[in-house]
Amino acid sequence: MSIAATAGHSSSSWRPPAPKPRDKIMSSLEMLYVVSRNPLEVWNKFHFTEKAVARRNIFGDVVVLMDPAGIRHVMVENVANYRKDDLQRRVLGATRAKGESLLTAEDELWRKTRRTVAPLFTPRRIAGFLPLMSAAAERLAAAWRRKPDGYPIDAALDMTRVTFDVLSSTLFSNGIDNGNDRFGNAMSRFLETTGRVDPLDIIGAPDWVPRIGRLRAQSTIDFFESSVASIIDTRRKAIEEGRQPPPDLLSALLQAADPESGQGLTDAEVAANIVTFIGAGHETTANTLTWALYLVSQADEVREELEAEVDGIDLGSLDAGDLFERLPFSRAVIEEAMRLYPPAPNLSRTAMEPDVAAGTIIPGGANVYMPPYVLHRHRLLWDEPDFFRPHRFMPGRRESIDRYAYLPFGAGPRICVASQFALMEAVIVLATLVKTARVVFSGESPPRAVQRITLRPAGGMPMRLYKRSNFT
Ligand code: HEM
Repeated sequence: MSIAATAGHSSSSWRPPAPKPRDKIMSSLEMLYVVSRNPLEVWNKFHFTEKAVARRNIFGDVVVLMDPAGIRHVMVENVANYRKDDLQRRVLGATRAKGESLLTAEDELWRKTRRTVAPLFTPRRIAGFLPLMSAAAERLAAAWRRKPDGYPIDAALDMTRVTFDVLSSTLFSNGIDNGNDRFGNAMSRFLETTGRVDPLDIIGAPDWVPRIGRLRAQSTIDFFESSVASIIDTRRKAIEEGRQPPPDLLSALLQAADPESGQGLTDAEVAANIVTFIGAGHETTANTLTWALYLVSQADEVREELEAEVDGIDLGSLDAGDLFERLPFSRAVIEEAMRLYPPAPNLSRTAMEPDVAAGTIIPGGANVYMPPYVLHRHRLLWDEPDFFRPHRFMPGRRESIDRYAYLPFGAGPRICVASQFALMEAVIVLATLVKTARVVFSGESPPRAVQRITLRPAGGMPMRLYKRSNFT
């Protein structure tokens, strides 16, 4: 394949692939089928033009909110009236370790866990992780440099590897990577299982009704959870014996204490949070990077501007304090990738009591959806919503975006606890890879976005690697 033939498009005219919104409302049965195949295809045209859409179907009342003020009301002003909905709890909780984690806990347990875990992710604490993230990115870049021109890769797989590498060095100081493929494979299977929405979960079948997918993966899940438990056990003993523990997230979790009560986390809670960090932090960041690489490969002007930014900087000399200031366009590309393909494409809550948001009545017990995927492409909120326009996130323009129109990390008290960690990781990995090589999309047809809790390309992201010097 000649390099010229693989070049992208002019950024101004190219429209990134997305499912075509439906023209008509679906029946409940049709919806069940679509949701279990790809929930991203459930949205109608009017979801992208209305502020709120309320419906009653056989599963109960559903209100979809696309109005920033209405979302602020649910996520912040009247947050006490809303809980994580049952579907989300079922899907996320179905395979979790025995304890509750920050992601799944509610009420006082959530407050206590958040108070205990949030200090792990303050800018000061995570600043020390930048060199580890940079080193993981550099390891992948070095592997890319060794490949001949035109070498085929699945960028989705490579991004999963690099984010796994970042997690294993920041969580466990690389204590799990000694050729431990079994752990890595178990983790991938574990993530596959947690990511799938089972129709039985949608209709609210009780937990004792077996889910086939989960049964199949049970032994992998057991292996994965027992590996995590044994890593915790070894570390806990080392701390008790007075040995200096490595400065990673596992040590921090084992030593964390609720600032109000002074109480620490139980081993089961530490395990549940480790599993959650892996589940919530691995694929989300990998998908952000995969879509960002794809978008950049398709938009020549953006790619040139990005290459110019990263070429002018010694990435190794950056520290966490000036990363975003020195790489504003890299950050804008990541933010725009998360606008078009938000890794968490739907946020949902259940209303405890009746309420009103965006002028719409929310019945008690209703499921309230605030889907970033729809919100980020809403006709009333964005200029050129379906186009790849990273400049909208550059300093000076970004400030005019409504805080509640852009929710890749959610909002309010349950906002992603690790958003700055994730952003830092995505920016340094993207910058390192773009500086190293040019990746060219090589699929026969455009990638198809599917939602499996996170939003990923179906069947991966086929690309080819080329040396940058070939193009200059
Ligand atoms: C690009 C990467 C990421 C994205 C887009 C993302 C997105 C989100 C979103 C939208 C929520 C809120 C869900 C809701 O309100 O229902 C959330 C919560 C959470 N995220 Fe992330 N996340 C990312 C990376 C990470 C990483 C790297 C970690 C951990 C190392 C992490 C850990 C968590 C946890 C523990 C929560 C629950 C917080 C709580 O309920 O108090 N996330 N994330």
